[in-house]
Amino acid sequence: MQPAVVVTGASSGLGVEFARLAVAEGAKTVLIARNIGDLQRLAAEIDPSGQFTVVLRIDLAAPDASETIAHELKVRDLYCHTLINNAGFGLFGDAVELDRGHQLGIIAVNIRAATDLMLRFLPDMVERQAGRILNVASVAGFAPGPRMAVYFASKAYLVSLSQALMREVRSSGVTVTCLCPGPLRTPFLTRADAQQVRLFKLLRKLPVDEVAHEGWEAMKAGRTLCIPGIGTKAAIAVTRFVPRGLLLAMVTRLQRGR
Ligand SMILES: NC(=O)c1ccc[n+]([C@@H]2O[C@H](COP(=O)([O-])OP(=O)(O)OC[C@H]3O[C@@H](n4cnc5c(N)ncnc54)[C@H](OP(=O)(O)O)[C@@H]3O)[C@@H](O)[C@H]2O)c1
Repeated sequence: MQPAVVVTGASSGLGVEFARLAVAEGAKTVLIARNIGDLQRLAAEIDPSGQFTVVLRIDLAAPDASETIAHELKVRDLYCHTLINNAGFGLFGDAVELDRGHQLGIIAVNIRAATDLMLRFLPDMVERQAGRILNVASVAGFAPGPRMAVYFASKAYLVSLSQALMREVRSSGVTVTCLCPGPLRTPFLTRADAQQVRLFKLLRKLPVDEVAHEGWEAMKAGRTLCIPGIGTKAAIAVTRFVPRGLLLAMVTRLQRGR
């Protein structure tokens, strides 16, 4: 069996950069998303020989997504050495106005699929005493987020789970790192209909490749939290010192947007 880097959400944004980093290090890399055309174009660009990449069209909202991924690895004689839980999406608007099914989709992808993949691959990593997990959360994981309530809560879940799992496995040689970026210039904000939201306009948008690189290096160094950029670090520091009620009022104001 050969070790593989599994990157979810590799069809755009940060996921593309993680895929580039993995292939540049000569790792067998499994690219996962729904948009197979984008995955194939990326694979052709970063791995013209086709030796290093496997492309899987998988909807992570499907309850059996992690089982399918595990099966696809097995039939190729691969095992997950490094899991990059990057796929995710958000929706801007009041919870009572947004479609319930779409909001539950955030839980299915950002929470359920990410957790399922970790719980599936982590025991073998611990057994082998080698393995890395990188969960992509957000600055949004440090405060309640009215008008993106389910999204902010999904990222708080990932921060919490990552820190707890890292503590549980700390003497095993396996690490769990949580990357918490501020806003980025990827299709994410447009897809969430949040490009005009004040909170995201206020924080400086760092280059996507730099943020991915910082997260990648933090993962390799076995760090628990990675918060790229001074502005994002300062924003997260504020969430730690400001009383919860005041923080909620501040985020509510910034989330008014347009
Ligand atoms: N952009 C930001 O401002 C920002 C800030 C902080 C954190 N983040 C987080 O960073 C991560 C990457 O986001 P990004 O900015 O790179 O956004 P993006 O360009 O929209 O990429 C999101 C990726 O997730 C995949 N995805 C979404 N739903 C999926 C599903 N049901 N099944 C499989 N794949 C799915 C998408 O692929 P398909 O559509 O092809 O399936 C795409 O590859 C997300 O977790 C996001 O929450 C983003």
